[in-house]
Amino acid sequence: MTTGTPFPELSAEDAAELIPHDAMLAVSGFTPAGSPKAVPRALARRARTLHESGQPFRVRLLSGASTGEACDDQLGLAEAVSWRAPYLTSAPLRKLANSGKLDFVDMHLSHVSQVVLEGFLGPIDVAVVEATEVTPDGKVYLTTGIGNAPTFLQYADQVIIELNARHSPRLREMTDIFMLPPPPNRRPIPIHDPLDKIGTPHALVDPKKVIGIVRNDEPDGGRGFAPPDETSRRIAGHVAQFLLDEMAVGRIPSGFLPLQSGVGNVCNAVLAGLAESSDFPKFKVFTEVLQDAMLDLIAAGGVLGASTCSLTLSDDKLGWLYDHFDEFADRIVLRPQEISNNPGVARRLGVIATNTAIEVDIYGHANSTHFFGTQVMNGLGGSGDFERNAFLSIFMCPSVAKGGKISTIVPMCSHVDHSEHSVQIIVTEQGLADLRGLAPVARARRIIDHCAHPAFRDYLHHYLESSPQGHIRHDLRRCFELHSNFLEHGAMLPDLDLSQFGPR
Ligand code: COA
Repeated sequence: MTTGTPFPELSAEDAAELIPHDAMLAVSGFTPAGSPKAVPRALARRARTLHESGQPFRVRLLSGASTGEACDDQLGLAEAVSWRAPYLTSAPLRKLANSGKLDFVDMHLSHVSQVVLEGFLGPIDVAVVEATEVTPDGKVYLTTGIGNAPTFLQYADQVIIELNARHSPRLREMTDIFMLPPPPNRRPIPIHDPLDKIGTPHALVDPKKVIGIVRNDEPDGGRGFAPPDETSRRIAGHVAQFLLDEMAVGRIPSGFLPLQSGVGNVCNAVLAGLAESSDFPKFKVFTEVLQDAMLDLIAAGGVLGASTCSLTLSDDKLGWLYDHFDEFADRIVLRPQEISNNPGVARRLGVIATNTAIEVDIYGHANSTHFFGTQVMNGLGGSGDFERNAFLSIFMCPSVAKGGKISTIVPMCSHVDHSEHSVQIIVTEQGLADLRGLAPVARARRIIDHCAHPAFRDYLHHYLESSPQGHIRHDLRRCFELHSNFLEHGAMLPDLDLSQFGPR
């Protein structure tokens, strides 16, 4: 596709040489989808060589969300990243972040583009962007994950394009690039339906910035999910019943509302549960990540179409999509994350947000990111973009983790990502707590009775009723007793008989 382009062709090694120590490196993609592969792999090799000869080499790495194994994992294993934003799922990077060797900035994903545009993160030295084509006049046709690539292409000082022959050039038929100008003169974003297209099929770059093209054909390396287990199925059942009841009383229109589905096993099970239920109307999705299960649901007709930022599909499923592109070309829209996760659009469309939490406290604050207040898991991702602005904001989690050693319903969250002011519905396999219109103590009683595992209910009720009176009842000497017990004794309630719990 590039014959005749004026850009120099480089090997990945040559391209990696152009990225200096301490550079702010921005990469395309969102999850493994669309993130560059050859150049980061070569950069990790270069970092290792330099480290072996006693020279420092680390970059500051900015992306759309997580990236693929070739980027986050390889650079993490080479200890070649000093600063990372806005999200990670990579075990090597998580280890560095949790041991104080990496500055990780956990951000709302819809905010990143504006933060770059306003210069809060400083200049972007080099952007490496995966594409199917770049034209001499600077049209860049992106691949499976749009992320922040259009912004990085515009603001980076220098750009390297990884042309990936593995991807279908037809991806441009789904791509809709729309960039927001700086405030204060923004016009409303004219999306009134998840499948509305409002932009162009390509991003733009000033051709003078393109310092090289690297050819590649490595797959995204996306992984599928395990089939839903019994706990996830029960959570999905509670959510489906609740939404059907809301439709029956007219609080959700009979044609349903667009759904946002978060990451992880539980969210996938819920999505599948809704779309497979014969009582459910067909619906559209307004979300940031389209995974295997959702593509199956679009193919089967339960989901009418999806607005998303990435096709985070397993390699086989992506190949299948390319083989059946006609079926999906006008039922999937790929957007930059500033638009796919836009709070104003989510509010306008009346999105139903379904996300997973690590723990939830008895007042309805949710922790999506940190175990025991200190150890980061993945980050906030887009969960805050959607939950704060949704028509209905639902948080889900199994009631216990680690075989019953941990209750996910706790007196006070050890870290708060989502507050009681916008979290409306909590769901575990035990049941569902609808918190709308409830004052704090009533919320607490409902969450304990409906969502906590029975083995933890007495403790939680006793904590609530014995805490000092107030608008919110808390005993600041005991609010982290369960967490402290786990850290000291290996279980939140050390005397509990664990044989009553399943594998979770
Ligand atoms: N304390 C300690 N560990 C806990 C825990 C708790 N309260 N809750 C869960 N865990 C552990 C589980 O045991 C499991 O550990 P394992 O990997 O060793 O088996 C791990 O956390 C993942 O739990 P699981 O129940 O499989 O969760 P999931 O795959 O549904 O993911 C989140 C849950 C919260 C980690 C994930 O949804 C996430 O990162 N969310 C934040 C970002 C987000 O919401 N993005 C969506 C925006 S669209």
